[in-house]
Amino acid sequence: MNPNKPFIIAIDGPAASGKGTLARKLASHYKFSYLDTGLTYRAVADELLKRHLPLDNEDIAVKTASLIDFGSLDRAHLSEHEIGEAASKVAVMGRLRKALVDMQKAFAEQSNGAVLDGRDIGTVVCPDADVKLYIVAAPEVRAERRYNEMMEKGEKADYNAILVDLKRRDERDMKRTESPLKPAKDAHLLDTTKLSIEGAFTAACAIIDPILAKR
Ligand code: DC
Repeated sequence: MNPNKPFIIAIDGPAASGKGTLARKLASHYKFSYLDTGLTYRAVADELLKRHLPLDNEDIAVKTASLIDFGSLDRAHLSEHEIGEAASKVAVMGRLRKALVDMQKAFAEQSNGAVLDGRDIGTVVCPDADVKLYIVAAPEVRAERRYNEMMEKGEKADYNAILVDLKRRDERDMKRTESPLKPAKDAHLLDTTKLSIEGAFTAACAIIDPILAKR
């Protein structure tokens, strides 16, 4: 390992697997910078929706992405369920992905340490990451988490509709030709179905600490 290179933790997994919460907690614990790459796809989808533009026109999507200030994204707004669905649709486009991935790679390289979460971090964005985690959880548990999140925010939520959406999103994210969601060969699998946030954090630290200690 090159000690001058930033220490990178790559976290991938399907929607509502708990990867974002875990990534944020790890970044704060290790004092690393953090990038939620899903937000970058969500920002493009949101801008297209706001301008009533199609979600499947690559030229328009790339142009729209070039106009967004990725430094000041509104996480609360972009986290809305429908924007996630639209993001999954725009995320199938190769040239759009290339533009966003270049920016994500630059982010990873600019700090002492960084945590990035998404679908293709361990496979495409940071293939040389020091630690790769692939987070999974049963679809029913993920739907329940998303349902509870929406209820807490006072939004209208329908468990069955959320479950159907999540399964459709998994399928789209895993079956697309461009950088499909899949674990990197050297990823550590972490199943959070029966784990609390604290439990997932402890399990992740048990993987990361010995690797960090060797630096
Ligand atoms: O993690 P999320 O729910 O915010 O992601 C929204 C969508 O963006 C997801 O369904 C697929 C896409 N995405 C992607 O293709 N690659 C990433 N690295 C992150 C997100």
